[in-house]
Amino acid sequence: MKPLVAVLIGSDSDAAVMAGCTRVLEEYGIRYEARVLSAHRTPDATARYVRAAEGRGLRVIVAGAGGAAHLAGAVAAHTTLPVIGVPLASSPLSGFDALLATVQMPPGVPVATVGVGPMGAANAGHLAAEMLALADAALRRKLHERRQRMAAEVLAKSKDLPSRLRENPKSR
Ligand code: RP5
Repeated sequence: MKPLVAVLIGSDSDAAVMAGCTRVLEEYGIRYEARVLSAHRTPDATARYVRAAEGRGLRVIVAGAGGAAHLAGAVAAHTTLPVIGVPLASSPLSGFDALLATVQMPPGVPVATVGVGPMGAANAGHLAAEMLALADAALRRKLHERRQRMAAEVLAKSKDLPSRLRENPKSR
């Protein structure tokens, strides 16, 4: 079965955080492939991979990178597949640099940018699932069920809240 989502990382040092994205894809049962491809260090290989992606059956590309994070934008330059950018906090600027580099694309070449780091990596997986669910009723049901489970879990946390608040040591 062909993969539907490509998960690209600018360096293998990004792998631990971006595993948060692939874990979510696996929870939904979405087929994906992962590659280390860099906007700056492997520009030709990145362009070749992305240009071939749609023809190979890929439907969404997730790109996670830190620092001067041009990977998602460079990917979007070569495809009209939806591109989800994950800014990573791998530099002394704690991801603020990657956030701005990823999110501020010029009109006509969009990158759907999620939050910085682990939260963004997980949400990239959920957003990719929502994109694919537009044409996949079974996946749409999984998304609805997951939201219902999440809501039930949050509401259940109110039950023991009074005792937990009493147990909490004084904050001042
Ligand atoms: C970016 O530079 C990568 O996405 C990574 O987050 C950061 C550092 O890369 P390494 O020097 O660890 O390979 O391109």
